[in-house]
Amino acid sequence: MLLLHYYLPQKLIKDNQKMCGIVGYLGKQNAAGILLEGLKRLEYRGYDSSGLAVFEDGNLIVTRRVGRVKELVAAVKKAPSQSSLGICHTRWATHGVVTEQNAHPQLSSDGKITLVHNGVIENYNTIQKFLISKGYTFSSETDTEVLCNLIAYHYAKEKEPKEGSRFAQSVRKAILHVEGTYGLAVLCADCPNEMVGARHGSPLILGVGREEILLASDVAALVSRTPEVVYLNDGEVVQIVGTDFTISTLDSEDIKPIINTVDWDISEGELGDFDHFMLKEIFEQPEALENAMRGRFSLDQSTAKFGGLNLTPQDLRQVDRILLCACGTAWHACLTIEFLIEKYARIPVEVEYASEFRYRNAPLDKNTLVMVVSQSGETIDTLAALQESKRKGYTTLAITNTVGSTIARESDGGIYQHAGPEIGVASTKAFTSQLMIGAMLALFLGRLRDMSFNDGSELVTGLKKIPDLVREITQHCAQIKSIAKKYTKKQDFLFLGRLSMFPIALEGALKLKEISYIHAEGYPAAEMKHGPIALVSEECPSVFFATEPDTLAKVVSNMQEVKARKGQIIVVRSANCPLPEGLADDEVIIPECHQAATPILASIPVQLLSYYIAVERGCDVDKPRNLAKSVTVE
Ligand code: G6P
Repeated sequence: MLLLHYYLPQKLIKDNQKMCGIVGYLGKQNAAGILLEGLKRLEYRGYDSSGLAVFEDGNLIVTRRVGRVKELVAAVKKAPSQSSLGICHTRWATHGVVTEQNAHPQLSSDGKITLVHNGVIENYNTIQKFLISKGYTFSSETDTEVLCNLIAYHYAKEKEPKEGSRFAQSVRKAILHVEGTYGLAVLCADCPNEMVGARHGSPLILGVGREEILLASDVAALVSRTPEVVYLNDGEVVQIVGTDFTISTLDSEDIKPIINTVDWDISEGELGDFDHFMLKEIFEQPEALENAMRGRFSLDQSTAKFGGLNLTPQDLRQVDRILLCACGTAWHACLTIEFLIEKYARIPVEVEYASEFRYRNAPLDKNTLVMVVSQSGETIDTLAALQESKRKGYTTLAITNTVGSTIARESDGGIYQHAGPEIGVASTKAFTSQLMIGAMLALFLGRLRDMSFNDGSELVTGLKKIPDLVREITQHCAQIKSIAKKYTKKQDFLFLGRLSMFPIALEGALKLKEISYIHAEGYPAAEMKHGPIALVSEECPSVFFATEPDTLAKVVSNMQEVKARKGQIIVVRSANCPLPEGLADDEVIIPECHQAATPILASIPVQLLSYYIAVERGCDVDKPRNLAKSVTVE
């Protein structure tokens, strides 16, 4: 009997912290081309190494390469296969070296099973010891190889069942012993017409095409083949035989699949005339903002309306506190949304890092509404914060860009961003779209409370103008590019803004450091005196935001403090915020707009500034080192 201890000390975890993209194909076409095409669309999930397994003449043939998917494509081209069954993987690792041995697919030591895995097998150490005692050998440092051998062990032991498949049954048996998270696609050397998938904690989506079935971690990899998808839930196993599939629980109870049709324009995932997805997505912001607003205003009521909240106005009037949870850029969006909701709806809001909240056991009361914000809808910490809130009985809502994502499905209600696919690892259009939805939410909640009809109406009118104003700013990209060129060699930057500009300062600093590897810090402008001012010198420029006439005098004096210490100043200022002559070294002027939308407009110049600095420095803008777009591990 297999005895497992569900505890693994952190120091034993070697190479099992990863998030990845997986694709599987079973159909009538050549699998390799389709798989690699899908894999390219998942590269944002990881790009340290990649691999492919196909079924050839009764053997599982595995090809793996370190580096980008293009390395794998080149290797596969040299040895083309005719197989119409295969799996592939692109990997992102935080522990352990990146080697071919550690790349996926992993192959069991008896050569019977190969699999690709997204997630973490926490009790791999115990399982590995057991498997070694049974004669299995290991050639990688991965937890995935342990799972692969565990399936092979069960496959070897399993008798041919009266019903169902021995292969699928061995996958079920193995994962019953596994602690951790997985999205899996598995092949067996004895089953040329079969693929098995399973999910727990990592996304897995089934694509149902004409005479073909696909598996992938994201619809992006499927949509060029089929718009019909089934989102698998945790604890589900899918067995694909030929062009048929069945979904069941770990206890082999059949589950009726729900087939969804995804509305995804495939050209949105293409670069077109742009050099990088990041630039393309910066320029797509006017449409993304229009899509966030489309059909969501009620002009006769001067308010916003959202179809998917699943809460009555009465429920919402009883909310006396809102907790916003997110990670990364979405967390910065939450800080802006906090500002907007408190200002316009007068509801107290707190913002938490999802990764902290889930372990903090923060006291909430029954009238607290928990909202999570996530572009991908798959970030594991945000998902865990959502699940923890639900477990404690709080009402949960999600703002997400990804229809059908786990967060979208698990929250009680929510708002889709409709920003279109965001491929660049550094978030741009998803961020400003979250700010737009935050402003609309503040309007909606405000109008359920004290906000007047006229104030509501002014806000609606103001928000509707924003897409055109964003377009206007992007037209000045040549000016921002020439500013960027002057600062390319700097190694430190400060980003400073007050009130609603503070989150934009944080986001500006994050954008710059993510893609250009320049150290940058965001601070409330007045806080600069309490520490960051020590960094100011000719070598450390400061980006200031001067967008509000009310606080302009204060921001100007902060700028003078920087100037007095020989710091260079780039300012993003509103047209109605004039500065003393000669104070700023460089400036970008944004149009006047409703105060609720200034954070959106002020974001655009700093996105472009970071982009052009990174390009000048020769950085890989869309795939910055060490980062991945969707973080599906803790
Ligand atoms: C990663 C990405 C960030 C993103 C964060 C949260 O760290 O690199 O750009 O902001 O995850 O992602 P989410 O999909 O939850 O918004």
